[in-house]
Amino acid sequence: VEKPTVINFNPGPAKVDPTVMAQAQKELLNYRNLGFGVLEMSHRSAEFIDIVDKAKTNLKELLNIPDNYKIIFLQGGATGQFSAVPLNLLNLSPDCTADYVVTGTWSAKAAKEAEKYGKINIVHPKLKKYTSIPAEDSWQLNPNAAYVYYCDNETVNGVEFHFVPDTGNVPIVADMSSNILSKPVDVSKFGVIIAGAQKNIGCAGVTLVIIREDLIGHQMKECPAVLDYKLQTDMNSLYNTPPSYSIYLTGLVLQWIKNTGGVTAMSRKCAAKSQLIYSVINNSNGFYQSVGGIRASLYNAVTVEETQQLADLMLSFQQEHA
Ligand SMILES: Cc1ncc(COP(=O)(O)O)c(C=O)c1O
Repeated sequence: VEKPTVINFNPGPAKVDPTVMAQAQKELLNYRNLGFGVLEMSHRSAEFIDIVDKAKTNLKELLNIPDNYKIIFLQGGATGQFSAVPLNLLNLSPDCTADYVVTGTWSAKAAKEAEKYGKINIVHPKLKKYTSIPAEDSWQLNPNAAYVYYCDNETVNGVEFHFVPDTGNVPIVADMSSNILSKPVDVSKFGVIIAGAQKNIGCAGVTLVIIREDLIGHQMKECPAVLDYKLQTDMNSLYNTPPSYSIYLTGLVLQWIKNTGGVTAMSRKCAAKSQLIYSVINNSNGFYQSVGGIRASLYNAVTVEETQQLADLMLSFQQEHA
């Protein structure tokens, strides 16, 4: 595979591994000798159903997803899920309430959207700045809440959870759009995991939802069919025309992660990349700690070597301009 000449640190849609891109290119015009490509394929065909099932099997294996969870691929982005979550789950609470932990712009948007459908309680005093997670023992959790929502990695603000909160019997809903498959996750601790694919696991157009079975089937009557977890799990994500090419590409990325050592290898790689950049930032005497500057995203497809080049550039830029 030809090495890209540009290093891509885009925030999402983001870099896709070149071997995945090459395979997609190879299969673009003729998928497995069918004489046409996935873009042109019926979503009801045996070949496409095989693509969906294979992606689900690989994801289940990669994240060690227990048998009592379902996987669906939906449209509408992670933002669509900001509505889907309350529409499908708020009925679990007798008074239509849910708890939200708001640690950045994405969880703030999710809470704002959920307010259209029920009573949303932000469990901690409003933060002036999104730079850390308020201490868990300061959260005012409601034992009757339908769910507790948080964003596992606030992409814009850089706040990542390194623990799974203790919410008692109240199910946890987590947005993992920007860190899914970058570290091992104990899925059994979650009620629902949502993730837009365009950063870590594929391309724009498809959103992954992993949901515990007992949380399915509580949707409000107003819930649009395309966002209805019950309908979509019953129909294997094929209630209507799915984002077929995006699901296919996600399948290729999942296979690539599996072939390159799975989540354990990926998390080692991600830790090494973070270490490279944060050590430059933390040793910069404040040069790289002020607001502004540039943004570089180190999603799964970005290599350690590429990250090293960025770290080197940051060091030389600092030496020149500090
Ligand atoms: C953590 C997180 N949640 C939600 C979103 C919104 O996703 P989408 O654009 O797919 O709606 C993003 C980024 O785009 C994100 O980083």
